[in-house]
Amino acid sequence: MNKFGGEWTKQKLDILQDYLNFYMTALKNMRFKKIYIDCFAGSGKIEFSDETTIDGSTTMSLNLDNKFDEYYFIEKNKKNYHELEKIKEKHPELNIHIYNEDCNDALPKIIDNIDWRYSRGVLFIDPYATQLDFNLLRSISLTKAIDVWYLFPFYAVNRMLKKDKNIDDDWKKVLNRCLGDDSWEDDLYFESTQLNLFQDVEYEKASVKDIQRFICKKMKEVFPYVSENYLVLKNSRNSPLFLLFLLISNDNPKAIGLVKKVEKYILKDKTMV
Ligand SMILES: C[S@@+](CC[C@H](N)C(=O)[O-])C[C@H]1O[C@@H](n2cnc3c(N)ncnc32)[C@H](O)[C@@H]1O
Repeated sequence: MNKFGGEWTKQKLDILQDYLNFYMTALKNMRFKKIYIDCFAGSGKIEFSDETTIDGSTTMSLNLDNKFDEYYFIEKNKKNYHELEKIKEKHPELNIHIYNEDCNDALPKIIDNIDWRYSRGVLFIDPYATQLDFNLLRSISLTKAIDVWYLFPFYAVNRMLKKDKNIDDDWKKVLNRCLGDDSWEDDLYFESTQLNLFQDVEYEKASVKDIQRFICKKMKEVFPYVSENYLVLKNSRNSPLFLLFLLISNDNPKAIGLVKKVEKYILKDKTMV
């Protein structure tokens, strides 16, 4: 991991930690069961190329002063899963559930088994690439009880959106899955005004900013509230790698108002759009 990667890895975890602290304080005197779900959980530790380590999202969530009633960690990689098992053993006092599965399989089961009338949750989605099925976001939103931080894999998506729209079927499937449907085909490409030698229609691709706006629009189709100031995490060449969204499934205007205030405070000085 390069130095820059290290910086935004810390930044996203700081943002999550600030939000979890706010969340637990805001819900402190409410009788809801408080739930934290981490669906690309990692191993509990993050190591940088200079061999320094920091706590990963799972360890950070367990170490907060205010404890959640339940923790759900999903991690597909066996080795990382075994590390999570060790962490669970160290915390017999906490209610930790770990799953060595694809999150697209485990997350729907977890969501279905919780009675969201009496529970509230925060879900952290932190994939390396396009693994999350967009349809899962729809079931999450239906709970009206889960706040989501989603590190959307912009770089991976943008790379598959080829300039000339000549995209093979396998990549189309991945794009459809990650973006929810095939509307990107019409929304992110337009016919070029210049015809080629054979008078064929040629396509041009939307700008990086327009692709970001499109992704934001897709999130807004699903969630009652999507962070206005989503954070753009860039690499050292200034190319956007990930977009960090806060997605709120609770449609209560009071709850949304509170989130808007907190979002401004948490993302203050960090928004790089
Ligand atoms: C960016 S890392 C997560 C880091 C973690 N949030 C932290 O702060 O330590 C992504 C993790 O997702 C896991 N993973 C990849 N595909 C997955 C899938 N389909 N379901 C669940 N976990 C997956 C990887 O093994 C990796 O540990």
